[in-house]
Amino acid sequence: MNFAARTNYICMTVALGGLLFGFDTAVISGAIGLIKAQFSLGTVQEGWLVSSGLAGCIIGVLVTGVLSDRIGRKRTVLLAAGMFLLSAIGCAFAADVDWLIAARIVGGVGVGMASVISPMLIAEFAPADSRGRMIAYYQLAITVGILLAYLSNALFLSLGAGGFSNEIWRPMFLVMAAPSLLFLLLLFKVPESPRWLISIREHVKARAVLGTIRPERVADKELADMEEAARKASAKKISLLEGPLRLPLLIGIVLAVFQQFSGINAIIYYGPSIFEAAGIGGSNALIFQVIVGAINVLFTIVALLWSDKYGRKFLLITGLSGIIFSLVFCGVLFYTGKTHGLLLLVLMLMFIACFAFSLGPVTWIIINEIFPTAIRVKAVSICTLALWIAVWMVGQFFPWMLEKAGAAVTFWIFAGCSIVNFFFSWRVVKETKGKTLEEMETVFIAPH
Ligand code: BGC
Repeated sequence: MNFAARTNYICMTVALGGLLFGFDTAVISGAIGLIKAQFSLGTVQEGWLVSSGLAGCIIGVLVTGVLSDRIGRKRTVLLAAGMFLLSAIGCAFAADVDWLIAARIVGGVGVGMASVISPMLIAEFAPADSRGRMIAYYQLAITVGILLAYLSNALFLSLGAGGFSNEIWRPMFLVMAAPSLLFLLLLFKVPESPRWLISIREHVKARAVLGTIRPERVADKELADMEEAARKASAKKISLLEGPLRLPLLIGIVLAVFQQFSGINAIIYYGPSIFEAAGIGGSNALIFQVIVGAINVLFTIVALLWSDKYGRKFLLITGLSGIIFSLVFCGVLFYTGKTHGLLLLVLMLMFIACFAFSLGPVTWIIINEIFPTAIRVKAVSICTLALWIAVWMVGQFFPWMLEKAGAAVTFWIFAGCSIVNFFFSWRVVKETKGKTLEEMETVFIAPH
């Protein structure tokens, strides 16, 4: 295998964390109705079951922030893979609701851990000129995971409808054991991050890893740059609250929160009920979910092809323009009551497509490339934590907004948030295309 192919292989393997993230967060939407019926859940227990994954995520993000500098990136990602496997088996064989909730928390911890460590590890392995594409593998994997969960849920539901079993929700979860196991096995072949090895002064090991993924001369140059950055970092202890790091932290948090305030998960998860409210639902709801999932996968490929060619900002600005347009007009359709035509479907798909090549991948790309190695994991954890809190907020408030303010106003609120993100991305976000992570340190933290 040549150097580029080996780096590609490593990054694709690590990106599988995204696939499990996507699968785990989407599988519950198909299973919840069946579980509710089997255990006669009350609303409080149902709420717990749905939000337990999210609670686990928050724990997972915090754990990773502390753990991955201590035990290394590779052991942390292995641990995340172990959590997914444990959760899949735990959910499938849960004897009661409490057990199920505990297993969902474990899966959530896996999602939280993977959401920090997978894109960050990819950023640390990828060469500067293809880092955008390689971090976008992770987003692509999330979208494939979501689609797989929809398809497998649909398959099991049809088996269940055929009188197969009333506990068909169990295999829905168990399916996740297969990719988790594959992820775990493939990870053993992934080396430790050379940047982390340098941070613990294992220079020889770092050079050995670089020697397997870069040609001789490039490996020497990258090693020297990493050593220089590590030297500077230890000479002048950098803290997140220091002046020069405030800008990347602001960029990371704003992009993370406003990715969610675009309403993406409201459309992905409540899309079918929005359609039912508009009178187009029924049996088409499932087909709608699958179409949304497929468009989400397909348009992420645009980011793979373009993020290193035209840059992150170009994708953000064009994608956000389409997002704002589609949200504003969805609002207009609801406001004027013209929701029965094909136009609503087209606008929602346009929203998904634009998110898929911009806010989806580019948020993860930028968060993982703008911080110096010495504090990267802590900073990325803070931004990712902000993202999960925003996921929670939208989940809590979206149904309430829909009921109190109506669909039109809800869409316009999401549009308003995306307009803020548009101006922020245009004026404040800095282009990161083509720079090494060490060069990035000079963009943000020198020459103060
Ligand atoms: C977001 C998720 C979202 C997914 C949809 C990710 O970038 O962080 O919240 O569900 O994209 O594809």
